Amino acid sequence: MNNGLPRPVTAVVIVAAGSGERLGYGMPKARVPLGSDAILTHALRGVAAAGVARQICVALPPGDTVLQELCAAFAEELRAGHDDNQENPLPVLTTVDGGATRAASVRSALAALLDGTEAVLVHDAARALTPEYVFHRVVDSLAAGAVAVIPAVPVVDTVKMVTPTTGDDSSIAPELVTGTAPREELRSVQTPQGFRLSTLIQAHQAAADFDEKQAAAVTDDAMLVELLGVPVHAVHGSTQSLKITTPLDLIIAEGLLEGPLGIRWVEG
Ligand code: C5P
Repeated sequence: MNNGLPRPVTAVVIVAAGSGERLGYGMPKARVPLGSDAILTHALRGVAAAGVARQICVALPPGDTVLQELCAAFAEELRAGHDDNQENPLPVLTTVDGGATRAASVRSALAALLDGTEAVLVHDAARALTPEYVFHRVVDSLAAGAVAVIPAVPVVDTVKMVTPTTGDDSSIAPELVTGTAPREELRSVQTPQGFRLSTLIQAHQAAADFDEKQAAAVTDDAMLVELLGVPVHAVHGSTQSLKITTPLDLIIAEGLLEGPLGIRWVEG
């Protein structure tokens, strides 16, 4: 629900330029079928249904005409289902070529945002089933004054630090436990991650010169903003926002679609 505060002019960046090797389909993950549609189509529908974006900018694998056509078909689906009397205007759908890393894909999309954009939500296409209320929580937190805000859920497993074993120890087990993280302070972090646009641009400019090792260590956008020393807030995410990465995740996502989500997105 809207907290009543005026919302910033917001763009949603969907990063969909990954190879999706871990899913084992031999095609970019965004193209992999989930129910009767591609993962990216589900992600686009979720973003559009949330109604928070003036612009949706999708980073695609360079030269992927299948995904370009999928985005064009989605733009048509949006237009066909849009009523000019609706409260939210039709979002502008833009596509850009993604980069070699997730961060490079985000940078490419940031360069294509419309003038006047005040806030940006960066969302993984792989989190195709993220509920609308998560988008609203993030945007409402930005409206309330957050500069950076991420959806997060408590960690259910106990998490330990380990190091590889060496010498004689390596015949006992491959790793040695070096510590246990305090679980009540840990969160699993999801997307969409929301930022004031100027802050995210600054964070990504600072990261543009990272060497290969540093670049590989960047797994989300909030990390880069943390490096600037800017506070990052967290709102409650959803277990439904799972990141479809492995074949097991795809089975879970299919199961979710057959349940209440199927009624909302497939029939609704
Ligand atoms: O690889 P990982 O699962 O962390 O990717 C998260 C998201 O970032 C996915 O939606 C993927 O398509 C996207 N990505 C991207 N460009 C890359 C690598 C990943 O847009 N070069």
